Amino acid sequence: MAVKKALTEILGIKYPILLAPMAGVSTPELAATVSNAGGLGSLGLGSSSVEKAKSAIIATQKLTKKPFQVNFFCHEPQEVNVEAASKWIDFLKPVFVQFDSEPKQNLTKIYKSFLEDPQMLELVLELKPDVISFHFGVPPQSTVEKLKRTGIITMASVTQLSEAQIAVARGIDILIAQGVEAGGHRGIFSTEVDPALTTKDLVALLQSKLGADEHVPIVAAGGVMSGQDIRELIDLGACGAQLGTAFVQCKESAASVNYKQSLLGQNKDGATQITSSVSGRPARALISSWHTKVDVPGRPPHPGYPYTYDVGKQLNELASSQESVSPDRFNAHWAGSNVRRIRDLDANKLMQTLIREMS
Ligand SMILES: Cc1cc2nc3c(=O)[nH]c(=O)nc-3n(C[C@H](O)[C@H](O)[C@H](O)COP(=O)(O)O)c2cc1C
Repeated sequence: MAVKKALTEILGIKYPILLAPMAGVSTPELAATVSNAGGLGSLGLGSSSVEKAKSAIIATQKLTKKPFQVNFFCHEPQEVNVEAASKWIDFLKPVFVQFDSEPKQNLTKIYKSFLEDPQMLELVLELKPDVISFHFGVPPQSTVEKLKRTGIITMASVTQLSEAQIAVARGIDILIAQGVEAGGHRGIFSTEVDPALTTKDLVALLQSKLGADEHVPIVAAGGVMSGQDIRELIDLGACGAQLGTAFVQCKESAASVNYKQSLLGQNKDGATQITSSVSGRPARALISSWHTKVDVPGRPPHPGYPYTYDVGKQLNELASSQESVSPDRFNAHWAGSNVRRIRDLDANKLMQTLIREMS
């Protein structure tokens, strides 16, 4: 029980509400607004270069004196599987033809994993954000210790018990229990192992198996849209909640107008589904042609992450630029399964609403 109370103290925040880090959507303004309202703001920097990450962290530090988290991807680095890449490109060709275009022939590593980026680690140690979090895995214990010695609090997304045990063994301070309802990429460490637990089941599992013994605070993520949802998860044993989809529509987010409108337009029947075809890792998005035209039985295996994303982004951009011409939507509008409960509020108003609903 003492652990539950401690999350706000550990993080130095007023309310147990965390903004999810969202690569491509996070901005210093969004992070600082949430932190200034008493939650934990965040920057999703998994797709950023060291230079971009540096300017985002410095800009956020200028906008708030309160704590915020920076977030990186820790997938196992791999080389491209040339044969799989070639088959995947051939498979997607007919879709590109429809847009009078063709897919790129060489798929490249569009992002580095934090595990292979010592300069990014140096940057974090130099700028000392209050909190760092990891998605798709955790760095080695030596790196976690280095960060903690600098006074940085460490968090990691986990989706199942074995990942939670690994994170705890490496010294991670706080677990983000990401349920299958979550928008965007699943934080699974290995794409081979995904029990697809719901947020509630995962929180209950982690709470019963390691919450009490290990004294690791558990933050729930996935499908959380209101203060009542947060309260329910806290009653189940979570110490707080991390929300992504609810904040994407905020004016402070970097999501495109088209993306924001798609989310807000889903109030009646927002349907989402997980696909690995966009990036090479499973991620939940609003239903699009990725689900209905690419994820069909018999499709070849994709060439892995992040190589699949190289051609996925190409198709996404192409389709977005020609949306008025073609009805086919190849957008990757990441959204959680409770998107239909999204509200049209700026970040500060959304925070005030969540705080009011929680109490
Ligand atoms: C647009 C979008 C981008 C995301 N990008 C990241 C990311 O860069 N790093 C990360 O740890 N999680 C990322 N996530 C997942 C969130 O951390 C979180 O698990 C999820 O948003 C929770 O579910 P919800 O969207 O239903 O609130 C992203 C989620 C969304 C919606």
